[in-house]
Amino acid sequence: MTQSPGQGNALDNLLTESRTFPPSDEFAAQANAQPALYEEAKADREAFWAKQAERLHWETKWDQVLDWSGAPFAKWFVGGKLNVAYNCVDRHVESGHGDQVAIHWEGEPGDSRAITYAELQREVSKAANALTSLGIGAEDRVAIYMPMVPEAIFAMLACARVGALHNVVFGGFSAEALRTRIQDSACRLVITTDGQYRRGTPAPLKPAVDEAVADAPSVEKVIVVKRTDTEVAWTGKDVWWHELVDSQSDQHTPEAFDSEHPLFILYTSGTTGKPKGILHTSGGYLTQASYTHQNVFDLKPDTDVYWCTADIGWVTGHSYIVYGPLSNRVTQVVYEGTPNTPHEGRHWEIVQKYGVSIYYTAPTLIRTFMKWGADIPAKYDLSSLRVLGSVGEPINPEAWIWYRENVGGGKTPIVDTWWQTETGAIMISPLPGVISTKPGSAQRPLPGIGAKVVNDEGVEVPAGGGGYLVLDEPWPSMLRGIWGDEERYRDTYWSRFKDQGFYFAGDGAKYDADGDIWLLGRVDDVMNVSGHRISTTEVESALVSHPTVAEAAVVGASDDTTGQGIVAFVILRGGAGADAGGADAIKALRDHVAKEIGPIAKPRQIMVVPELPKTRSGKIMRRLLRDVAENRAVGDVTTLADSSVMDLISAGLQSGKAED
Ligand code: WTA
Repeated sequence: MTQSPGQGNALDNLLTESRTFPPSDEFAAQANAQPALYEEAKADREAFWAKQAERLHWETKWDQVLDWSGAPFAKWFVGGKLNVAYNCVDRHVESGHGDQVAIHWEGEPGDSRAITYAELQREVSKAANALTSLGIGAEDRVAIYMPMVPEAIFAMLACARVGALHNVVFGGFSAEALRTRIQDSACRLVITTDGQYRRGTPAPLKPAVDEAVADAPSVEKVIVVKRTDTEVAWTGKDVWWHELVDSQSDQHTPEAFDSEHPLFILYTSGTTGKPKGILHTSGGYLTQASYTHQNVFDLKPDTDVYWCTADIGWVTGHSYIVYGPLSNRVTQVVYEGTPNTPHEGRHWEIVQKYGVSIYYTAPTLIRTFMKWGADIPAKYDLSSLRVLGSVGEPINPEAWIWYRENVGGGKTPIVDTWWQTETGAIMISPLPGVISTKPGSAQRPLPGIGAKVVNDEGVEVPAGGGGYLVLDEPWPSMLRGIWGDEERYRDTYWSRFKDQGFYFAGDGAKYDADGDIWLLGRVDDVMNVSGHRISTTEVESALVSHPTVAEAAVVGASDDTTGQGIVAFVILRGGAGADAGGADAIKALRDHVAKEIGPIAKPRQIMVVPELPKTRSGKIMRRLLRDVAENRAVGDVTTLADSSVMDLISAGLQSGKAED
């Protein structure tokens, strides 16, 4: 790769943002995390983490905080024993909070259920007894392929309770994706539902399990929860949840497992290649999930109503619906369905109904809300909200501001949280009562976490410089490897900066003049225009800062003169006007980018499209857009949430009006 001229930076730093929002005095005064937390962690990192681990109940205390002698395989809280499910459920009942609602579950069709901690304890105990009755115990693998129904959470906690590893597979994935994930980890059991509600209609789910299990001989049983009452084919392996689980005793004594006992495997597909089974263990994972959830979201268990909109099929659902929140005795909303069923105000209606005070979602959804229009949230009472969060992708400053204004009433702190399936829990984020937040920046590593931006040689770049994000200290919730593939684990994360011993996250990042960290997208997506390395994120943010643009995706397409040329795909906002896609408007957009970040970043071409190709977790698949931009046949679309999107884009392009 060529270096950009002049600076020698791995990535050029183009966009600047000067708006900052300090927390109000009231918020700062009542915040869980105070400035001293940074000092404490800096003074003695291991003592700091030992203190954080004390928030959990340990059956046997550890005798060593960290053993890094087997790097890159860490051991945290060595010798300690605990039961993860006990920490998330039973101890809250024992401390007198059995009547507190743990989960306000809201079904897509409008049915709902309030589940107290006492009830959660009974449900998880029954499910654990059911697992034991099937011979499932410590170290067995259980695939969970379910929509967002309460039983999905019961099932995860039941696995944790008996020491089995859950392997949750997103309910929107195909039979083929399910099969490879079951086979790779040799699951003995699958837990699923008959069907799931998707955009108002029941869709069958079990047929995909039947197809996957036909080729997965490790599976002995399939437990089926009845959700949609859809007629399903029945095989000799199948058993109904309501028949097996409901007849079990609701008493179950949890067993304490080693701190390093495996807790779960979660496959990340990435954009290419065979999915990686990311392995997490117990004590360190739960410590960091719990610590980050309490401090980043400022959770007050007696008064807050928390809502994370993720699906349990992703790591966000694991760490910030199940383990972090429940370990902190949260009262939370879990919603089954899509955000526009039956109308585009559904989320705000739910916020109003339950008085949600903390709301955690993804930038892709925020930009969708922008496209639908600010008049929709304006119809609801959102005054209960006091902290907003974002995860999954860089959030463009304009989307951040829109979120704060239209959802947060112009007053809530927004925590932009950077982390990965591999990191297990949040790593980089402002602490909402301490840091003045900045639209678009995840800002700084949390107390106890080491992260920095380095150049090709692994040397930290100065303020204003761009490069690669690395993690330079082991952390409690770090992955303990890739299931069955030690070499791939070392290669993927530890070989790029082997000499320095850094974990390479695969993300580009920069420091601004204050030393705050900005994430710039996956390094594979970086564009090289006339020797300048330009981040897709910065050009996309510049486009979204124009009033007519709701969403943008930018790719580098090969160019005879400049190496790569910038090609942008944009979705216009609702109400952008009929002329917004015309030649003059397109020219205005190109000029706008030139003005915001400089002529070097001016897109060669801008195409107006009705939709963007996204993975099921909402990340834009730039690889497919590169195919379009370079006039190639579009590649593998099987991981797209909606595979017809590429047809829509191609059709739009043929109409001619989309090109500059
Ligand atoms: C991206 C999701 C910018 C990043 C928890 C990372 C982000 C990948 C942010 C991990 C953020 C996540 N700002 N980029 N706040 N959060 N990412 O494994 O590229 O689904 O490497 O975990 O998402 O995605 P994953």
